[in-house]
Formats: sequence, C-alpha cells, structure tokens
Amino acid sequence: MAPQTWHYGLVAKWWAEFNEGGPEIEYFRRFIEDDGQPALDVACGTGRLLLPYLHAGLDVDGCDVSEDMIELCRERAEREGLSPTLFVQAMHELDAPRRYRTIVVCGGFALGSDRQQDLQALARFHEQLEPGGTLVLDNEVPYANAGQWQRWLREERAGLPRAWSDDDGERGRASDGTELALQSRLLALDPLEQRATLEIRARQWRDGELVAEEDHTLDIGLYFTNELVLMLERAGFEVEAVHGGHEARPATADDDFVVFVARKPSSVA
Ligand SMILES: C[S@@+](CC[C@H](N)C(=O)[O-])C[C@H]1O[C@@H](n2cnc3c(N)ncnc32)[C@H](O)[C@@H]1O
Repeated sequence: MAPQTWHYGLVAKWWAEFNEGGPEIEYFRRFIEDDGQPALDVACGTGRLLLPYLHAGLDVDGCDVSEDMIELCRERAEREGLSPTLFVQAMHELDAPRRYRTIVVCGGFALGSDRQQDLQALARFHEQLEPGGTLVLDNEVPYANAGQWQRWLREERAGLPRAWSDDDGERGRASDGTELALQSRLLALDPLEQRATLEIRARQWRDGELVAEEDHTLDIGLYFTNELVLMLERAGFEVEAVHGGHEARPATADDDFVVFVARKPSSVA
C-alpha cells in the first residue's frame, strides 16, 4: 500500500507559500558541509532545506512521495536559477540515481506509512549511503503535543474524534492574492499500535469568497526514542548521537524533537 499523506493540492500550496526558515536548515547543513557530499534530502517537500543548500553550492538531491510538493519545489528552484535532481519516491522504496555521504530526513519520517514500511525505509537509507555515510533523521516525540498525548488514556479517547474548531485556523495571504487556511483535528489514537489519525482541512478564499476546500487524513506512526535507536541498529546503523531540538547537544526530556545521527559502518559496502 502506498503511504497516504496530505501534502497535496492546497496543503502543498500552503507549504510552498508559508513554510520558510527555521533552525533545522542550519542544523542539518553542518552534516552536509562537513565531508557529507553528495547528500540526499528525503521528504524534501517544497525545498525549505534543499534550496538554501543548493544556493550555498552544496551537492544535494531531493525526493518526496508527493508529486505536488516536488513540482512546487522544482518551479521555485527554476525561478531561482537552480536545476536540482528531484524525484518522486516513497522513502521505503528509495532507489536513488547515486549513493550519498549524507541522507537527511526532516519532518518526514512515519507520515502515512506503516511500521513495516518505516523499517524498510531505514533499510533503504542504509543501502543508499556510501560506506561510512551518515543518516540524520528527526522525530517528533509522541508526548510533544499535550492535546494528543492526553488521548493515550482510555477515558480521554472517548472524546474522539474531536470536533472542528469554529475558527478558520491558521490563515495567510498567498502570492496570487488568495487567502489560505489550514485546520487540523485528531480523529483517533491507538496506543497499542502507536498510531494517530489526523484530518486536515485546507480552504482558499478569493476576494472573501470561499473558492476551494479540501479534506485529507493522515495516519502517523508515533515512535519513542529508544525504540527508534533499536530500529536504526536493526537496519545496520551505529547511532552516534541523539540530539535535541535541532541543536548539536544531547536530547533531554524537554525536547519535542530528537534527531538521530546514525553512521553506516565503513566496513559495510
Ligand atoms: C512536514 S513536510 C517536511 C518537508 C521538508 N522536509 C521540510 O522540512 O520543510 C513532510 C514531507 O514528507 C513527505 N512524505 C511523507 N511521507 C513520505 C514518504 N513515505 N516518503 C517520502 N516522502 C514522504 C510529504 O510529502 C512532505 O513533503
């Protein structure tokens, strides 16, 4: 089954219009600059990380499961005079045109894929790295979102699915003059399988009139840190560091994001 994500249509447009900057760009860049080329940005989306790296002269390819995200990434790259190698591929089927010294995955792991596919994705990353190469992969911890975390309790799950809130959610003006808004809600949470099902509603207004509305669901895998360390080791990696909050320091219990720095041993072809 192909992973089902929500990064299409209006959601992809939202991402291209409003998702820029962030500490992740600098954090991941260091691994690529430091003897880490060529590199692959897996789940590159519309190029929030990839495009700054290309502007800095780094040798980086990009891939993503969503053709809409890749298309928007390509359009923007061309507008900015860049011509990156981009391809549409689910990470568990990764089959890239070359091997890499670094693979980065920022905000893209376990979205819409199942556990078996997530294990396969780690095995594909291992396969696509050169011996001695590095995987740098982030993960939002299951307890990062207080609203979602409380639903791990049986009595709290009785309130699911949650109703849509009355406001429009995050709303912004796009470059074509239309207004876009995104709202999301939790539909279901399964603590046994460690999965959350979310629904997103994207809406677009032109001159104050609602002209488009799209709903998508996303079934995400929730992984704890030590579990992911074991999964990485099972795929053949040596986990060199677990960083916190996209900073080069050890993760703590207060970090919403942890980042795994995992090396493919140089003795493995
Ligand atoms: C939250 S966005 C992050 C985009 C980009 N890495 C960034 O940080 O700006 C998640 C991206 O992961 C992609 N994605 C989700 N599941 C994927 C999969 N199984 N294989 C490849 N890409 C996937 C989505 O299409 C989307 O572009």
